[in-house]
Amino acid sequence: MHIGIFDSGFGGLTVFRSIRARLPQYDYIYLGDNARTPYGNRSFDAIFRFSRECVDMLFERRCKLVIIACNTASAKALRTLQQKVLPLEHPDRRVLGIIRPSAEALASLSDTRTVALWATEGTVKSMSYPMELEKAAPQLTVIQQACPMLVPLVENGELNGSALDYFIEKYWRETLQTAASQSTSAQALPRIPPTGVSQSACGIDALLLACTHYPLIQTSIRRILPPEIKVLTQGEIVAPSLENYLLRHPEIEQALSRTGSQRFLTTDQTEGFDHLAETFLGHAVLSEKVGI
Ligand code: DGL
Repeated sequence: MHIGIFDSGFGGLTVFRSIRARLPQYDYIYLGDNARTPYGNRSFDAIFRFSRECVDMLFERRCKLVIIACNTASAKALRTLQQKVLPLEHPDRRVLGIIRPSAEALASLSDTRTVALWATEGTVKSMSYPMELEKAAPQLTVIQQACPMLVPLVENGELNGSALDYFIEKYWRETLQTAASQSTSAQALPRIPPTGVSQSACGIDALLLACTHYPLIQTSIRRILPPEIKVLTQGEIVAPSLENYLLRHPEIEQALSRTGSQRFLTTDQTEGFDHLAETFLGHAVLSEKVGI
């Protein structure tokens, strides 16, 4: 049986890339719901229905375990899938999300006090990260920032350039403004310039890219943010977390086949998928179109 990786589109490929680099022995099926992406600003009902259909499709293709490599779907659909759907319909299969491992990774950063989190509107509004972090790391202050323009820019191949820089600067400025207004000692904070990027981090010491598309523009983000801010991506978090999960669940691990294969499915045109997937993975991809 295989490991399935599902995302609303291309973004999950950043997670897939890290998982496969760490665990190359297993067989993988990646499914991108490109025909219905982005999920970021859709309703709970729509995201749940889409996620359920995609997970079912991966189960039909002999996936023992499905990683929902999409923050928006993890935030809105994972719990219901795990608690209501799996016990009744697929008691021998597992679905894992990427929010909990990310929150645990943040909790383990001993020198971090205030973390900023960039995500889609859906992820931010779900409050999933603040709730997970409240359990895993109650000492952390969390600054959430919705970045609705970043996914469309990435999907259109704008991986660097002035349009992208404009929005990164805007979202960083807004992040700093939120941090300043949340701080109880706002007077002690340096002033935030009205335009341009502040030299100050307003107490923020780490930024989690809590949307699977954002690692693709990490170089621009890194260039614009002050160098003292740690920038965390989810591939580097989820891959060791999956390895650890498989060690703790030999009944799942032993059901997995090991020929090192990878297969790519998309709900939209394969040409577009193959082209952008190549950007994400750095090698040629031949995907198959699936209808949902
Ligand atoms: N993959 C989604 C996430 O990580 C972003 C793309 C979308 O909005 O569908 O939240």
